[in-house]
Amino acid sequence: MSKSIFRVFLRSCALLSVITLSSPSVYAELDVFSDKHLGAATCATSQCHGKGSPQEGRNVQLNEYTIWIEGDRHSIAYQTLETKESARMAANLGLESAKTAKICLDCHADNAPEASRGPKFKIRDGVGCEACHGGAERWIKTHTDPDATHKANLAAGMIATETPEVRAELCLSCHLGTRDKFATHRIMGAGHPRLSFELDLFSTNQPAHYQVDADYVARKGSIPRFNLWLIGQFISAEETLKVAMERLHEGVGIFPDFAFFDCHSCHHSMSQKRWTNHRADNLEPGSLRLMLPNMAIIEATAATLGNKELRSAIRGMRIQTMRAAQGPRGPFVDAASQLMSELIRTRKSFPDTFSNKQVAAVRRGLLATAGADRTSDFGEAEQIYYSFETLCLALDQIEACGSALDQLFDTIANADTYSPGKFARLTKKLAARF
Ligand code: HEC
Ligand code: HEC
Ligand code: HEC
Ligand code: HEC
Repeated sequence: MSKSIFRVFLRSCALLSVITLSSPSVYAELDVFSDKHLGAATCATSQCHGKGSPQEGRNVQLNEYTIWIEGDRHSIAYQTLETKESARMAANLGLESAKTAKICLDCHADNAPEASRGPKFKIRDGVGCEACHGGAERWIKTHTDPDATHKANLAAGMIATETPEVRAELCLSCHLGTRDKFATHRIMGAGHPRLSFELDLFSTNQPAHYQVDADYVARKGSIPRFNLWLIGQFISAEETLKVAMERLHEGVGIFPDFAFFDCHSCHHSMSQKRWTNHRADNLEPGSLRLMLPNMAIIEATAATLGNKELRSAIRGMRIQTMRAAQGPRGPFVDAASQLMSELIRTRKSFPDTFSNKQVAAVRRGLLATAGADRTSDFGEAEQIYYSFETLCLALDQIEACGSALDQLFDTIANADTYSPGKFARLTKKLAARF
């Protein structure tokens, strides 16, 4: 081991221990396989979660399985591996079959190790109940007791899906990837779709098999949409940095893994000249842009909820990280860990409640950032679109936002023809309106 690599190794160990201490639930690596996974069939009977409609007088609806099997894409995640598209991808990657390849099953199913599978476990269930709620081995019997508490369920290994930080980390483990399972550029090159994620929007788009009513709030509390969005933005950025620190330099040959960079910085027509100095934050023309799609939003939010100095500090660290991403691992890990620590610190400094005035100011701030032509990457523009929609919902103004949302959607509907200039002109107009 060369001296410099050894130094980096020590530093990253130090970083991980700091993060674990400061934040026990997030970044202590969520372990969904510590308990046996009994299989969706265990939850599916008509006495349990398989009723046809929500039940009166019970604290949960008991039709969760029905909703999942009928309308939730997670229940067909394994079937996706049986399609021609997946077969082609597997052949391109030299895999025997997508249906048996660990790298596909890790995200498209509840791929518990053999020893953690109960008798009714079926891999065909795809992303089943226990892929999100944790192995039911220790709580299957007790969670139905009339006096069972949520706290006791959690102590028996249930995952705290109601906690935004934990939920974000859980969803991102597949919708972004982790050190151990990641949709590398090799997998993208074989034909896998690009991944994108926004915690509030994806939580809304997954058909809800729970109802946040008075009883729910008494047991679990309630999270305002704005808070869920805000925490999702931060955890997405933190997780992206974390996985990049772990995997960026494990690309093909001498190259880093291209999946960490803005896809369209390489995949766009050469006759479309996009580069400007301020759009690229002074990165050299022709450089690779590390994809941090949440950072423009976080910077705008830091200025609105914090102050301009905080925004400049975070922006400076982001640019340093993007520059370092073009070189060897050591300086990159240094820059990325500094940025990650600052994000964790900033996230934890926020209050629990926000006024509508603050939410509206954040919405204006991110439109203004985009309007100042600071978002050259498609992934950033897409996050601004998602976020504009979420913040309109948070303010209960979805009707008033309707035509603006349609216009904004048109600018990002086709990733191949996305034009940063057009996006900036429209967001500038919207910043004046909202
Ligand atoms: C074990 C991996 C895994 C976890 C954990 C996971 N997902 Fe997914 N999710 C997938 C896969 C794979 C698909 C695509 C399924 C398909 O179409 O084959 C998907 C699809 C979705 C879709 C549909 C997307 C679309 O384009 O229509 C939504 C919404 C979604 N997930 C939300 C979530 C949320 C919210 C969470 C966290 C509470 C979450 N997911 C956790 C793997 C996962
Ligand atoms: C890091 C997790 C991850 C890995 C690894 C992964 N996938 Fe996916 N895959 C997803 C998610 C999440 C989606 C849904 C994307 C969305 O709609 O936002 C998806 C979508 C797909 C789709 C498109 C589904 C549709 O109907 O639109 C196919 C096909 C697919 N994956 C096949 C594969 C195959 C084959 C492999 C193995 C070579 C694989 N995936 C590995 C997470 C992953
Ligand atoms: C993609 C992740 C995901 C999958 C798959 C999933 N859930 Fe959930 N589940 C959630 C989230 C997120 C919540 C809302 C937060 C919470 O209350 O913990 C939730 C809530 C619940 C609740 C709590 C309702 C309440 O009032 O407290 C029950 C019960 C439940 N799920 C059962 C199931 C069952 C049964 C399955 C399988 C058929 C399943 N879930 C599959 C993510 C998931
Ligand atoms: C550093 C430049 C670079 C970046 C960034 C990059 N790619 Fe690529 N991509 C390439 C190259 C080079 C090829 C190989 C092209 C060929 O074989 O003709 C390729 C091939 C592909 C292909 C296969 C195209 C084909 O003709 O079969 C897909 C799909 C793809 N990339 C998707 C992505 C996605 C999604 C991202 C972002 C997550 C991304 N790429 C980021 C350089 C890049």
